[in-house]
Amino acid sequence: MSPAGYPGEEGAASVPSYNDNIRVISGTAHPVLAEAVAKEMGTGLCAAHIGRFPDGEIDIKINDDVRGTDCFVIQPLSPPVNENWVELLLLLDCLRRASAGRVTAVMPYYGYARKDRKDEGRVPISAKVVANTITRCGADRVLTIDMHAAQIQGFYDIPVDHLYAKPVLLKAVQAMAIANPVVVTPDVGGIKMARAYAKALGADLAIVDKRRVSGSEIAVEHLIGEVEGRNVLIVDDMISTGGSISEAAKVVRAHGAKTIVIAVTHAVLCGPAFERLDGCPADTILVTDTIPRRTKVPHQLQVVSVAPLLARAIQNLHDSKSLSILFETLDA
Ligand code: R5P
Repeated sequence: MSPAGYPGEEGAASVPSYNDNIRVISGTAHPVLAEAVAKEMGTGLCAAHIGRFPDGEIDIKINDDVRGTDCFVIQPLSPPVNENWVELLLLLDCLRRASAGRVTAVMPYYGYARKDRKDEGRVPISAKVVANTITRCGADRVLTIDMHAAQIQGFYDIPVDHLYAKPVLLKAVQAMAIANPVVVTPDVGGIKMARAYAKALGADLAIVDKRRVSGSEIAVEHLIGEVEGRNVLIVDDMISTGGSISEAAKVVRAHGAKTIVIAVTHAVLCGPAFERLDGCPADTILVTDTIPRRTKVPHQLQVVSVAPLLARAIQNLHDSKSLSILFETLDA
């Protein structure tokens, strides 16, 4: 990034490039996505050193001047979530102390979002702790995609821009030209998302009634709706251990579904996810790149990028333009 010169200064850049006041900073969680976003914006990544001290503590130094600039730190809270979280906090603190004009925490994947309430005694509300720390360490705003619980926005007293990956995934689904599809949600909590896809595709809706037995085990109780002889699109916000999605695929196949396509925003793919997905009856598993790709992925996996969506959102925020054109909400 070339620094803009002062008017009248000898040798100064007469017309600064439009993005000269933006800094896109990548944490170490997902530099491939950060680079893709910067490239979409026609800029580069801010120069920074992020390493480790011998004892494992995080060592950060931003090498470009950020004083008065509009900074966007791209860091999904994906595994290793605790490392990535602390690194994000240190980056925010670093930018604040370097007199950045505005700092936005861009979390394409918001970790701990499934812990958004006290559903039993003596447990934390981890999503609120994430919000407290992000704010406390200096973020002026937050930009994220498909938070597991949209009401987490209320944990913040700074603006939260919540984008949806639906337009990105839907485009890829539409390109498949699936005949007469039924959209299936793998649990009751996903009905709103499934209904939005069904509406956009003019499709029917079916629901898998899932019960969570433990963090990685689920049990399917019922399938509500008709899938026999139909092509099925299963949609969800995330695949973690793959239990919900693989069981949903198995149950719709057991009820006579023909082709099975899965479309999910966040591919966390931890624990037994590879074995579960690779061996499940899905023909295609469409995910986005909010989380870096694992080395071992199921053979059905196809990835679509959210980089253009994030780039557009960042540019509009910088230009103080509305984001509503990008907020194709689940009601749309
Ligand atoms: C649940 O409410 C979520 O939408 C996902 O279905 C779930 O968290 C995925 O977890 P797993 O892949 O471990 O079943």
